Amino acid sequence: MPFPTHRMRRLRRSERLRNLVRETRLSPESMIYPIFVCPGDKVRNEVGSMPGQYNLSIDNAVQVAREVEQAGIAGILLFGIPEEKDDLASDAYDENGIVQKALRAIRENVRDLLLITDVCLCEYTVHGHCGVIKHNDVQNDPTLKLLADTAVSHVRAGADMVAPSDMMDGRVAAIRRALDSEGFLNAPLMSYAAKYASGFYGPFREAAGSTPKFGDRRSYQMDPPNAREALREIALDIEEGADIIMVKPALAYLDIIARARDQFDVPLAAYQVSGEYAMIEAAARAGWIERERMILEATTAIKRAGADILITYYALELAKIL
Ligand code: PBG
Repeated sequence: MPFPTHRMRRLRRSERLRNLVRETRLSPESMIYPIFVCPGDKVRNEVGSMPGQYNLSIDNAVQVAREVEQAGIAGILLFGIPEEKDDLASDAYDENGIVQKALRAIRENVRDLLLITDVCLCEYTVHGHCGVIKHNDVQNDPTLKLLADTAVSHVRAGADMVAPSDMMDGRVAAIRRALDSEGFLNAPLMSYAAKYASGFYGPFREAAGSTPKFGDRRSYQMDPPNAREALREIALDIEEGADIIMVKPALAYLDIIARARDQFDVPLAAYQVSGEYAMIEAAARAGWIERERMILEATTAIKRAGADILITYYALELAKIL
């Protein structure tokens, strides 16, 4: 018998009650914090379109990694901004590349934190695409070897986990094979499995200097209107050996997160990307929204949709709020 037997408002009467019956909770131990490492010393350059986020030289990245560890956050996701870019993204797989050096320095100072690396070429190529270019097109198969070399060099330098974000076909298998043949059988792979060609990456490309010099990424990243295709991408990555799968961006793709959660049993990550961050920051600066409330609502929604793991530029701040 519905009303008056059932009154939904009973359990909403106080914060204690609401807290008791809350279905979704945020926790720092399921969050990952992305950081951008750049050359130099004592560098801490704020990214214009991402207030509160910085390009950090290795010394400062070590500091931030310490803070992240102390905050109880699971790990950091490292992006590198190399001294020099070239056509073959040499710095990406150079033993003395920016990420490799950062990994060694952080590993030396921070014991527990998970060091996860973004494996992609776009920050390292002059043209800003995620692979090798020939005839104005990104070449899939020749790119795989460079991605595999990159992943191996990251793990060799101390990465706990690699996260390929390039969206080349077959890269999960290629990286898994390369890691295994080097004896890194136990290094997990988190694949950006359903990664869309999104306008929400704009601020990141300013942060990482990775805007394509010509064309766009639509021939390799996914077409935003497609959902079933995301499930195929995810299934393929799991078959190829992905340990964790990711949906990216997050807020505009909650349906994809929910469907992936339903259909697959592997751990699921979602990436609240730079544009999602920038929108909240911009609207808060204009005085149009309540900043902290929006941060909590947006990140909670991503977990409610089904994400186990949340990659977010708000990780450090959330750890403090929580
Ligand atoms: C590299 C990469 C990108 C992001 C993560 N890895 C940029 C892109 O694909 O253009 C975006 C992250 C963000 O926007 O916060 N390929």
